[in-house]
Amino acid sequence: MKVDTLLSPAELPTLARRDLRASACVVFDILRATSTFVTALQNGAKAIIPVSEISEAVTLRQQQPDVLLAGERNGIKISAALTGSFDFDFGNSPREFRPEKVRGKTIVSTTTNGTRALRACAGANIVLASSLLNLAATAKFLNQAQPAEIFLVCAGTGEGVALEDVLAAGALAGLLAGECSDTTEIAARTYVSARTELAAVLGGSLNARRLLAIPELRADVAFCSQRDVFNLVAEMRADGAIRRR
Ligand code: MLT
Repeated sequence: MKVDTLLSPAELPTLARRDLRASACVVFDILRATSTFVTALQNGAKAIIPVSEISEAVTLRQQQPDVLLAGERNGIKISAALTGSFDFDFGNSPREFRPEKVRGKTIVSTTTNGTRALRACAGANIVLASSLLNLAATAKFLNQAQPAEIFLVCAGTGEGVALEDVLAAGALAGLLAGECSDTTEIAARTYVSARTELAAVLGGSLNARRLLAIPELRADVAFCSQRDVFNLVAEMRADGAIRRR
């Protein structure tokens, strides 16, 4: 297995130029989209449908009134001011997706970077949404599946690199029995240099500081920093929905 890493969303367009039919893409948006999707599945959600735009989510709700809508812009739950008529059911905090709210439900989500990164991987044979919460389960699955090539896709922030995504990609790279590209080596070494104080390093990232400054979202940082609390693999299938594998 070759293990390559896209460190920033500026590299996402390169995926469209590649033949990904024998490849796996693993998307990390640690703060918070992929951590949230993994949590929702752990708590019994049937599926998460990531979409890029608010208008796509609203159209899906009109077509399928039973779906719940989730997502954020600037970290904050999408409100009627953005949809034109109604508030979304959830923001993008993993702690909102409690079992009693999500069990058996299909959730359509649009976030700033995470859902965009997932959609950019749609041509790959295997697309996984990963997080620190389910890192070991993701690694175990990939080591068994042995795709020819794995792309660790860091969703980032805006057009830039997000430290927490690179740390998670590097942590996963260290668990994979594969041949690393230089960018994977950069991620792996970043993780190794931070691992003894991971929560503190992650907590100092730009995204963490942004969330820590919002009283109702600050606990998301500690939640998303937990390692291997869920034993599940989250896979986006050809129909565009993320489900437990
Ligand atoms: C994103 O997709 O950009 C994020 O997950 C942002 C957030 O949750 O605040």
